[in-house]
Amino acid sequence: MEDCIAVIGAMDEEIAALSEGLDRLPPKGSSGLDLPIFKGRLHGQTIVVVRCRVGKVHAALATQYVIDHFHPTFIINSGVAGGISPNVRIGDLVLGTSSVQHDFDVRYFGYTRGAIPGLESSIFTADPRLLGLTMQAAASELSSDRIHQGLIVSGDQFISSQEQKQEILNFFPDAMCAEMEGAAIAQVSSANKVPHLIMRSISDQADNTAPQDFDQFLLDVIPVLNRVIHRLFILLQD
Ligand code: ADE
Repeated sequence: MEDCIAVIGAMDEEIAALSEGLDRLPPKGSSGLDLPIFKGRLHGQTIVVVRCRVGKVHAALATQYVIDHFHPTFIINSGVAGGISPNVRIGDLVLGTSSVQHDFDVRYFGYTRGAIPGLESSIFTADPRLLGLTMQAAASELSSDRIHQGLIVSGDQFISSQEQKQEILNFFPDAMCAEMEGAAIAQVSSANKVPHLIMRSISDQADNTAPQDFDQFLLDVIPVLNRVIHRLFILLQD
């Protein structure tokens, strides 16, 4: 099978521009999953774009599906997130050096918050080459103070209060932003030894006004993700 790069986004809005001009594929295999898949060429490479829906289980299902059916050389998760670090503002871009499932909690059994029993590490590391190239791609689109690298935390929660945000910071003081899929995509990618990267544009500050900010800024902050992915593909072509 030809090499391809997979991009997974949770919401239709997050994949709309990227999937324009690609072919929508019929579902593969016996799966009854509602997973729109688009495939085509982008700057000399085959790209497969998948819309997984919100949350870690949807994200994990889509990731395993895309690995099984398309064997991507690497997986990019692209979407929006709520800023957790005070340095991260609406419209900024965060590239995950690593990710963790902040809502995984079996501390009662002696684990740290976020630790998943049975795994050697519950912090999933991005592919360093992909991260470096995406940094380079992002630098052509945004000023350096709007680009951040660091820990991305994922959980099945929309973070929308100072208390929720503070709780995340108490357990993960280095967290840059919170979203709902990345670390699940990272876990499944890592389990299959497929390199991955999470890139997120900030739609809100994960505080009391997050629901309104999310609605207001969602469509404004998505295009930069698309532009960075285009530039990344151009760099990968060289
Ligand atoms: N995605 C965008 N904003 C978010 C938030 N505040 N919490 C979780 N996921 C998000």
